[in-house]
Amino acid sequence: VQIEMFDLTGYFSSNNARIERTLSEVLDSLDRSTRLAEAMRYSLMAGGKRLRPNLCLAASEAVGGDLERTLPVACALEMIHTYSLIHDDLPPMDDDTLRRGKATCHVAFDEATAILAGDALLTLAFQTLASMEGPRPECCLELIRAMAFAAGPHGMVQGQMLDMQAEGRSLTRAELQRLHRLKTGALIESALACGAMVGGGGSAQIDAVREYGKAIGLAFQVVDDVLNVEGDPAVMGKATGTDRSRRKNSYPALLGLEKSKEFAQNLVREAVAAIAVFGLEADPLRAIAHYVVERKK
Ligand code: IPE
Ligand code: IPE
Ligand code: MG
Ligand code: MG
Repeated sequence: VQIEMFDLTGYFSSNNARIERTLSEVLDSLDRSTRLAEAMRYSLMAGGKRLRPNLCLAASEAVGGDLERTLPVACALEMIHTYSLIHDDLPPMDDDTLRRGKATCHVAFDEATAILAGDALLTLAFQTLASMEGPRPECCLELIRAMAFAAGPHGMVQGQMLDMQAEGRSLTRAELQRLHRLKTGALIESALACGAMVGGGGSAQIDAVREYGKAIGLAFQVVDDVLNVEGDPAVMGKATGTDRSRRKNSYPALLGLEKSKEFAQNLVREAVAAIAVFGLEADPLRAIAHYVVERKK
């Protein structure tokens, strides 16, 4: 009942206004007139769902953290995520021309600019983390370590590599789960852990939201696979049917649509169970868990 009562639309829209404002401020530190800054702004401000920063803010809130202090961490996650999308869409990767309802960065600009805009967003994310004034230096270091671990060869980049290597050949269920946990789950998991860390959570609290993040991160990519089959491209702002045409490994290809949806539902139950120790302060996390499987975009 509590979950149904929670106004997630209102929660996202008030958070997103702050997230967009902070992202815009970070971009304002760059020389606007450069083509590089223009391409970075084009992709970063194209209106994504801002799920990772919202998860980060919700995790911080769950442990009683301060919203203003959490915003730079939330925005660093969004910069890393946007860089990963720009590179994911490049011709030698997924070769997509539509993202967030707009032409992909390499189409709107050119491939070299898209590569460099991605590089720049990734670097700027870590510069932002290293420049924070609120948290203790040891906390900053821990945030940088956790995010780098999730984004790099121990996480997202290795997941993307496995995704590319597996095109056209069938993975086992265990292999596909590992791929999805790395390419998408790792950054989402770190959004939760980093939110709890900057929010001043204790180690048991950090572990609990991290467990939630691990489950929700996998569920998120399972649903992305499902939407690639049955979603509406006009609503999603990106092409559908591409996993099949590119002979990608996906949950619907492996298990079928119904079993994939069931699996995602089970993961949401796991996620919600992982944060059972929290009270009302974790209601945003509970509502977001349900949103992950109900979303249409
Ligand atoms: C898309 O992420 C890529 C995946 C990791 C599945 P999102 O669905 O969060 O994309 P935006 O940020 O809303 O555009
Ligand atoms: C994107 O995965 C994962 C990352 C960008 C790290 P997909 O390639 O499956 O996602 P979409 O469908 O292009 O958003
Ligand atoms: Mg991809
Ligand atoms: Mg893709």
